Amino acid sequence: MAPAARWSTSPVLFLLLLLAAATATTTTTAKDGHPSPTPWPERFHAVLFTNLTNYTEASTGPPLRVTDLYYDWPRRRNLNLVRHQLSADPLYDVEWNNGTGFYFDSKACRVEQFPVGVLPPWWLSGGGAEYVGRRVAGGIDCHVWGKAGFIFYYEEARTGRPVRWDFVDVTGIQQFVMSFEPGAALEDDAQWQAPAYCFPDDDDAARSSGEEEAGVGLEAASRLLRKLAGAAATY
Ligand SMILES: *[C@@H]1O[C@H](CO)[C@@H](O)[C@H](O)[C@H]1NC(C)=O
Ligand SMILES: *[C@@H]1O[C@H](CO)[C@@H](O)[C@H](O)[C@H]1NC(C)=O
Ligand SMILES: *[C@@H]1O[C@H](CO)[C@@H](O)[C@H](O)[C@H]1NC(C)=O
Repeated sequence: MAPAARWSTSPVLFLLLLLAAATATTTTTAKDGHPSPTPWPERFHAVLFTNLTNYTEASTGPPLRVTDLYYDWPRRRNLNLVRHQLSADPLYDVEWNNGTGFYFDSKACRVEQFPVGVLPPWWLSGGGAEYVGRRVAGGIDCHVWGKAGFIFYYEEARTGRPVRWDFVDVTGIQQFVMSFEPGAALEDDAQWQAPAYCFPDDDDAARSSGEEEAGVGLEAASRLLRKLAGAAATY
């Protein structure tokens, strides 16, 4: 059985979905005089540093992770490759627009069904974001917005690139964008393919029992994601 603790880090995954990214366009100014967030590019690759600042609540896994996020809106898919600190076995989170999410490492898999699909590029820019102001984050001059009372999103004032986002819930998840490549895609289809053990067809009950514990952290994440996606879909 795969160690459950590995899976419980999934809150990071949600966050990754949120990452946003901005294209090279600069922030536009809305009618109210406040800047508007930059939409995500349709495809990008970002490397995120994640700190689950309240991780005893968010997850039983380690609080620090590095994630490669491949956002691919044209193909309606999203991949997070999550590496926990000092862990040799990365965790994959592959999300499809039909709501199915596969979480797997080299040994085990968990499948989740969400009522929503992949976040659209305009999930923040499309409306509902409240401008918070200008802040320096990591030494970078940023515009900051809040949305739906659960996320603060920072983008570089000069370029519109995403810099950071914080979830305002008990998990205290903070994600920092370490690199951002608009247009970059993960073309290797093998990387998107969930392994055979994600599709048990008979007596694989033992495996799923090992994943129940792992699901605890995932649930928190899925709720966040759903909320975010739901908010995005409203506009
Ligand atoms: C992670 O967050 C905790 C709680 O805010 C903080 O004490 C710690 O320094 C942070 N770690 C890193 C590496 O940022
Ligand atoms: C959603 O799409 C993925 C990728 O094509 C597929 O593996 C999965 O079975 C689909 N889920 C449902 C509920 O149809
Ligand atoms: C961290 O989690 C604990 C336990 O759920 C909660 O009481 C506390 O408010 C959380 N801290 C923050 C800053 O949200």
